[in-house]
Amino acid sequence: MKVAVIGGGAIGTVHAKAYVAAGAQLVGVVEPVTAVGERFSTAFGVPVFDTLDSLLAGDNPPEAISICTPPFTHRQLAEVAMKAGVHVLCEKPMAHTIEDARALHRSAEASNVTFATAYCHRFQPELELIHSHIETGEIGTVRTFFNAFSGHQDDIETRWFGRKELAGGGALIDAGIHSIDIFRYLCGEVDSATGTLATVLDGTGLEVEHTAAMTLRSVTHVIGTIECSWKSPTGQSIVRVEGSEGSLTFDYARQGQVAKQSRSGEVEILQVSPGNRFEREIADFIRSVTVGMRPRTGSLDGLVGVAVLDEVYSQSDNRSLGSSILNEVA
Ligand SMILES: NC(=O)c1ccc[n+]([C@@H]2O[C@H](COP(=O)([O-])OP(=O)(O)OC[C@H]3O[C@@H](n4cnc5c(N)ncnc54)[C@H](O)[C@@H]3O)[C@@H](O)[C@H]2O)c1
Repeated sequence: MKVAVIGGGAIGTVHAKAYVAAGAQLVGVVEPVTAVGERFSTAFGVPVFDTLDSLLAGDNPPEAISICTPPFTHRQLAEVAMKAGVHVLCEKPMAHTIEDARALHRSAEASNVTFATAYCHRFQPELELIHSHIETGEIGTVRTFFNAFSGHQDDIETRWFGRKELAGGGALIDAGIHSIDIFRYLCGEVDSATGTLATVLDGTGLEVEHTAAMTLRSVTHVIGTIECSWKSPTGQSIVRVEGSEGSLTFDYARQGQVAKQSRSGEVEILQVSPGNRFEREIADFIRSVTVGMRPRTGSLDGLVGVAVLDEVYSQSDNRSLGSSILNEVA
């Protein structure tokens, strides 16, 4: 299959490597920044195009693309590609606003091509094991979910990530959108969502949150607690699901292992064959396109993630207990 990558930055390079590993034919990259395009072109031996239109009008157009650009560009790029009959794998978040996400979902539904939302954690082998153990009732009825994606990103506030109108939000839309998808995968559909955001960083206000917490409740009343941070140097990446008969925990620092704790407290380490989630995601996308089956996560999954965040962001704006309460407790 002939493929191209739109946006030759960090995740675009990851997609390109995964396409090469899957045996796809990479025919180009669209990248407006010359130095980034040249680096990509040297690494993968493909031509650089300034715009998606010029790639599609060229003499070797792709059958499918990965959209790996900042979120505010996703809808327009995806709609142009789908109109030209090109299949789309779109990086998360599907869009930076709920309006764009709804419109893009409608366009994807009306098109004759595959649209997949790139939620790579669905392809993490350890999370697939947790999913299958939940399905077979190994931990009984699921009660709670905990996930943290926190770490340290030095310069993120000076890049597009820190600009609300380009990214749609901060750490929550960046990492928490993965958390929502993992919650839906393991615990079912989201029924309610609340959250809180921190934007003040060492005395400096940011446009977007650098740290956030969110609680989700599923339709079956599983409660999920999620924390995300760009500014926690000793942070963690962890998923834990607790049920009536035990719990399952995956710590991303311990690849290939899931800790299963029984009701009585005994811990068993389940071994999992390691696998690269990005390579597995790209292989699934190629399979979806070639055999015409639905991708594991489509445009509706992209829309639901943005809708849950829209709910949390709209509740969190400027909410405070207010100075009167703070004075009383002082
Ligand atoms: N799934 C994951 O784990 C994961 C990880 C990182 C990033 N992402 C997502 O991937 C997207 C890109 O993030 P990144 O970290 O690679 O950013 P990045 O800044 O490293 O790369 C984005 C590139 O897109 C280029 N670009 C901007 N507008 C463009 C346009 N209209 N056409 C073509 N290229 C354009 C930029 O010049 C830049 O080189 C974001 O949506 C981000 O949330 C996902």
